[in-house]
Amino acid sequence: MSQPSPLSTPLPWDLVAAEYSVDVAPFFERFAERALDQAAVGAQHHIVDVATGPGTLAFRARERGARVTALDFSEEMIRQLEARAAAGGDTEHFTVRHGDGQALPFEDDGFDAGFSMFGLMFFPDRDRGFRELRRVVKLNGVVVVSSWVPLDQIPILSTAFGALREQLPNLPPPPAELPLASEERAVAEMSAAGFRDVAAERHTESMLASSTRALWDRLSRNNAPIVMLRNRLGEAAWAPIGSAIEARLLDRFGDGPQSIPMTAIVTSGRV
Ligand SMILES: C[S@@+](CC[C@H](N)C(=O)[O-])C[C@H]1O[C@@H](n2cnc3c(N)ncnc32)[C@H](O)[C@@H]1O
Repeated sequence: MSQPSPLSTPLPWDLVAAEYSVDVAPFFERFAERALDQAAVGAQHHIVDVATGPGTLAFRARERGARVTALDFSEEMIRQLEARAAAGGDTEHFTVRHGDGQALPFEDDGFDAGFSMFGLMFFPDRDRGFRELRRVVKLNGVVVVSSWVPLDQIPILSTAFGALREQLPNLPPPPAELPLASEERAVAEMSAAGFRDVAAERHTESMLASSTRALWDRLSRNNAPIVMLRNRLGEAAWAPIGSAIEARLLDRFGDGPQSIPMTAIVTSGRV
């Protein structure tokens, strides 16, 4: 049996939470908006955002006037979310829970719509994750889940991870296939969990960086697998590895501005 992914544990998410909420969440909000549109979320709805991170989709749903319940298993992500809600004075219609998306602490049929953006894809038991969403959302409610197409299709990321592997040849090999990395897989898994009218579509947004150096600097602070490795090795051991990866990226891509198209698979189904 393959090892469970470290990304299915809270530690890497705790480590990146502060950077993630500043650097990543504003970009991911664009995917969240698309998902909210797909479920036609408005002020009359109560939605649940499972694996909410720092509340990426949750805050956008609040802007539409929806009541929001958000859950994550990373205490640091929850801390980020709570700080932002408190700073905006927006806690009345916002319920925040710490917990596992595979065992939701909610009653049956309590929500009008449910979401898990780039979250359920990391659950060790995705079928349970889908079934839990189906359990807590009302009949005819829409559930939307997003995942990534294989990231090795993005040259700058595959170059960075390739250079990392050259530096650390004993790293365990990456999984052969990312979870839910094709429309067919995503539709099959969501349908198998009992959803109706399941459909998946691609949505691409470009991540911009002022230079290759700036991009690598950001990745080495906010990318969960990289930050976890960096934390495990310690800064002294990481420094030459990080420099070697940066040198490889500069060699291949120069130091000009970068625009990296990130393609998500956004899958929706009805309870
Ligand atoms: C890539 S982030 C996505 C966060 C947010 N949904 C967004 O779109 O920005 C993945 C999130 O999933 C959470 N997560 C992963 N597995 C989880 C689980 N079993 N239960 C709850 N949260 C989980 C992590 O803590 C992290 O906040």
